[in-house]
This record gives sequence, structure tokens and C-alpha cells, in this order.
Amino acid sequence: MQPQTAEQLAELAIDLGLVTSEEVQRAWSDAGGTSVPTEQFGATLLRRELLTRYQLDRLLRGDRTGYFFGSAKILYQVGAGAFARVYRAQMRDSGDTVAVKVLRNRFSQDEDKCKEFRREGEMGRLLRHPNIVTIEDVGEANNTSYITMEFVEGQTLRDLVKKRGALEVLRAIDLMKQLCSGLEYAHKRGVTHRDLKGSNVLVSTMGAAKLADFGLAAVDKEYGDEVLGRMHSPRTVEYAALEKLTGMRNDNVRSDIYFMGALAYLALTGVSPLGDSRDRSARSDPRRFLEVVPLAKRAPDLPADVRETVTMMMHLEPLERYQSISDVLRVFEELAVAHAPGGKATKRKARASIAPTAVTSAGQARVMLVERSGQAQDTLRDFLSKLGYRVLVTENAQRALTRFSSTPFPAEGIVFSASKLGSEALEAFNALTADPFYAKVPAVLLIGGRQTDLGEQANCDELRRVITSPIEKTTMQETLDSILIAKA
Ligand SMILES: Nc1ncnc2c1ncn2[C@@H]1O[C@H](COP(=O)(O)OP(=O)(O)O)[C@@H](O)[C@H]1O
Ligand SMILES: [Mg+2]
Repeated sequence: MQPQTAEQLAELAIDLGLVTSEEVQRAWSDAGGTSVPTEQFGATLLRRELLTRYQLDRLLRGDRTGYFFGSAKILYQVGAGAFARVYRAQMRDSGDTVAVKVLRNRFSQDEDKCKEFRREGEMGRLLRHPNIVTIEDVGEANNTSYITMEFVEGQTLRDLVKKRGALEVLRAIDLMKQLCSGLEYAHKRGVTHRDLKGSNVLVSTMGAAKLADFGLAAVDKEYGDEVLGRMHSPRTVEYAALEKLTGMRNDNVRSDIYFMGALAYLALTGVSPLGDSRDRSARSDPRRFLEVVPLAKRAPDLPADVRETVTMMMHLEPLERYQSISDVLRVFEELAVAHAPGGKATKRKARASIAPTAVTSAGQARVMLVERSGQAQDTLRDFLSKLGYRVLVTENAQRALTRFSSTPFPAEGIVFSASKLGSEALEAFNALTADPFYAKVPAVLLIGGRQTDLGEQANCDELRRVITSPIEKTTMQETLDSILIAKA
């Protein structure tokens, strides 16, 4: 019910926990008594900063919800994207400023979407890095799901270049160094971004650059579904279109590198290489990647080494791109030194070596076990430990590949268990053979007795073997030993 009088307005605001009755008492005399018109009293509350415009408008409409998400008190909306709105908010106890991202109404009824949103949020909580927007809390309130995160005082890269145009070269290099450092941290933990774009880069007034919305592309399910394939790895239409063009599906790491290149292009020229279209069919058209204006033409005055670096990040042949974000980070670090005032700009080729350095273990060899079921994880971990291996476990095949995207590799080999993962395990296993970057990663595909079709589709070679369960201890030991030795 809408408040009809100033007193009803005050009552509602107190009732909802937005103001205290003491604060209201003091406001009355300022407003000129309790019988003033509702609007006038509202204006007093605004002036005394007891309420924000956002809160007052809701109160005047008679809304009883939407003021708090968990302990965060919403102050006002700062932005909105395809599937969520973002608010500036204040924590009830600490008074800290936070950003609250709330799933839009039309998605809040979609159980899958809510789950995905919270799942990605939970995953994002594990990422703690100065160049990644920290997720503090994930929850449900007012019939919808929300994420509380660090509020970055500043603006998005997109807004920054819109206002100021191209950034100065050194500033852009510094920005890229920061972003690559955040992305490297995530890739090492098996998390790809899959939605890198100017509005997901927040540049603080202090000059820090932070990546926002890790993994949240997965929430936007309608995106890229047509080329999603069997593996569950949703990404935005932009990523899907790129991977359609290159013929490399689920190429998450290298797609992140491409779009990181697009961010560098945006920072250095002030224009997005792919245009600004909001139209979905235009954004999902693979041809837009062929129409990118070469940097040399767009910004002929850029130093050649900077230009070559960005061009190589955005190479349309994934194998010609930098192969890991660590390589890209190293190059930007060198560029920062070369272009520092008084530094010597080098003529070195921007290309970093693609061949990863193989890790040779001094002591126990490590294997990464990929298995979805928790129970089977325990059994297999036990089994492999008894064979003398240190075991890292992950439940997601794509994530395992991501963790092998930067060197040194996290383990000497991978054991994919297909019993629950099925074709997802097979695809990741085959990706190793298909991709020269993984040339030296040994792997075993474990299949159940009824999964012979998977076994037949597996691309085996010197380093890649299939084992059918029940698994014999000796078979496992011999296979692992032989592929690990073949690698060395
Ligand atoms: N942690 C944050 N701190 C400050 N502002 C943010 C934060 N996260 C998002 N924003 C703002 O909210 C806007 C909407 O974000 P989002 O819903 O992710 O859509 P998009 O990324 O497509 O712009 C962003 O463009 C940005 O201006
Ligand atoms: Mg965003």
C-alpha cells in the first residue's frame, strides 16, 4: 500500500529498517511538522541523506522489498546488463560499500539460471587477486539470487575510452599487465573468463584495473548454445562466434587471449575492434572477426612491438596466437620496461616461445585426476596414491585443460575418468592430441565396460592410452610409467 501521509511514509521507512525513529524525530522539525505533505517530508529525508532517491521512490510506490539483499542495504542502481542489475550498497554492520549484482526478474523464476548464477558466484569467491573484483557473498533474497562483491570506485574501460579516447601507450601497457596478471591467476586455477569485454574491466580512480564477472557468461545460457556442442561450457555469443570461425570449440584459454587482445586494441585506439553492435545476430556473425581493421591502419603511430603483440593475441589461427596468458603477461612486462621513460624500445620480436617447458619431477610424480563423482574420486585417488603418485583432483574436464594452459604444468599427466563424465572426458582427452600445445601432456582415458564406443573414438598415441575398467593395478602402473617415460 502506498503511504498517503508523511507519517505513513515515516512509519514504513522505520518499519523496513531504512531509518531509525530517532532520525525521523529529528527530521520532523526540519520538515516543518508531521502534517507536511508526503512529498515534502520525502525531500527532507533526501536532503538529510537518510534516504536515497532509489529508496524513496520505492517507498512512495509502497514497495516492501528490494531494500536489502542479505546484509547489504541498496543505495542506488549503477548499471545493468543482459541478465542482471548492479547496485551500490552498504553493509549493515561494517558500513562498507559493496556492489550487489541481482539477477533480473525475468530470470529469477528460472531455477537453472539461479543455480548457475550462484554456482559461478561460489566459484568466483575462490578467486582472490588484486586484479580480480572480489566476490564476497552469494545468496537468495526477495525471490531472486544475488552476488555481493567489492565495489570499484571508478569506471569501466568502455566508459573510460568513450570519454577520453585512446589511452597513452604506457598507461595501456600497464593496464594490460594488470589484467593479464589477474587472468593468469585464474587460468592457473582452471577458471577461464569467457566474457572479456570493455564493460567487464573496472578501472579504479587509483589506477587499478580489475576483471569482473568471472564465469558469469555461463548464466547467459541463450548465448552460444547453437555451437555449444556436447561439452558443458557456455560462453557469450562473441566467444561462440570466434570458435565457430576457427573451428576450435571450447577453446576457452585461447579465446580469452583473443578477447584480451581486443581489450588492448580498445585501450590503445579508443575503439573496439569488433564494433559496438548490440544486435545479437550481428554479434554472433563470425565474419565480424574478418573485418577487424588492422591495428597498423587504425593507429599507425603505435610502436611496432606493441602493435605486433596485440596483433598476435588476436591472430585468427588459434595456434598462431600466444598459447598461454603467462606468455602474454611476460611480453607486456618487457614492453613496459622498453617503453618506460628513458628505456630503450627494443626491436625484439613480440613472439614468445610456444613450446612449454616440461616439468621434471624431482620426487613423486603428480597426476591430475578428472572425475565427477566424489565417491569415485576417493577410490581413484587412493588407488593412484598407492601406486606412488601425488594426486590432484578436479571434477571438470575443461577446467583440467585450462590448468594445463600455462607452464609449468600443474602435473606430469592427466587421468580422465569417463564413468560419469562420458563424452566430456573423451573430448578433453582428444583435445590433447589435436592441439600441439598439449603435445607433451600424457593422459589416460578410463572407460567403463559399457563405454566401448568412447574407447573407439579416442585418439591414442605414444602418450595417450585408454584403459577399460575393472582397472588392474599393474595395467595402470605400467601404462602411466610408459607414457611418463615416453614424455621424458
Ligand atoms: N564491482 C563493481 N563495482 C562498480 N561498478 C560495477 C561493478 N560491477 C559492475 N559494475 C557496473 O555495473 C554495470 C553493469 O554490469 P553488468 O550487469 O555486469 O553488465 P555489463 O558487464 O554487460 O555492463 C557495469 O557496466 C559497471 O558499470
Ligand atoms: Mg559485467
